[in-house]
Amino acid sequence: MEAINSKIVSLRKEYSSAFLNEEDVNLNPFKQFELWMHQAVEAQILEPHAMTVSTVSAEGKPSSRIVLLRGFDENGFVFYTNYSSHKGNDMAQNKYACLNFFWPDLERQIRIEGSILKINQQISADYFHSRPRESQIGAWASNQSAVIENRKVVEDAFLHYSEQFKHLEVIPKPEHWGGYNIIPTSIEFWQGRPSRLHDRLRYSNVNDVWKIERLSP
Ligand SMILES: Cc1cc2nc3c(=O)[nH]c(=O)nc-3n(C[C@H](O)[C@H](O)[C@H](O)COP(=O)(O)O)c2cc1C
Repeated sequence: MEAINSKIVSLRKEYSSAFLNEEDVNLNPFKQFELWMHQAVEAQILEPHAMTVSTVSAEGKPSSRIVLLRGFDENGFVFYTNYSSHKGNDMAQNKYACLNFFWPDLERQIRIEGSILKINQQISADYFHSRPRESQIGAWASNQSAVIENRKVVEDAFLHYSEQFKHLEVIPKPEHWGGYNIIPTSIEFWQGRPSRLHDRLRYSNVNDVWKIERLSP
């Protein structure tokens, strides 16, 4: 591991492509997010909607993983998953989560902290039915985060549900599958700058008014 460690130590990138000023940002953080997401899509960033979601267990143990943002508006940021997964169990016990986007090509990071709400079953079902049929069957076949003997377990489960649903035009949404909405209490926009003097602007919700503060890099 010595070689790769000396390589890692020598990796250095100066961030210099843009800056972030208080007078240029939108007063509404959702509008600012919309602008940055547009720019990420236009820049053809691979999976711009992929975000790290961090949850914390009842015992205070954090864990993180990537999920896909499937929508956002002034009510929050939505992703879909298995309610019985590791993250689902965490969120059943601890109502706070954090989202993080990193777009290296734009030298940008966005951090969203907030509380979690399961979204309405009908909205989850509508989204479930918009997915490819194979993904819908996959949601039935995967007992997400459970330890399994081998890959055959899920492949057999996939075949089992494919057979079970073969005469059904509409596959029912599993009870254990659906969306979460992260309702933000703060949203931080980070723009890389030279000499590690990065720009950081944080919006905090204080009595339903968004306050903007600059944070030290
Ligand atoms: C690019 C990418 C997108 C992903 N999108 C999702 C997603 O939208 N929902 C999901 O449940 N898992 C998604 N995953 C898988 C998760 O990272 C994770 O492995 C899974 O949700 C189980 O996490 P948990 O055991 O911490 O609950 C994605 C992984 C990657 C790399």
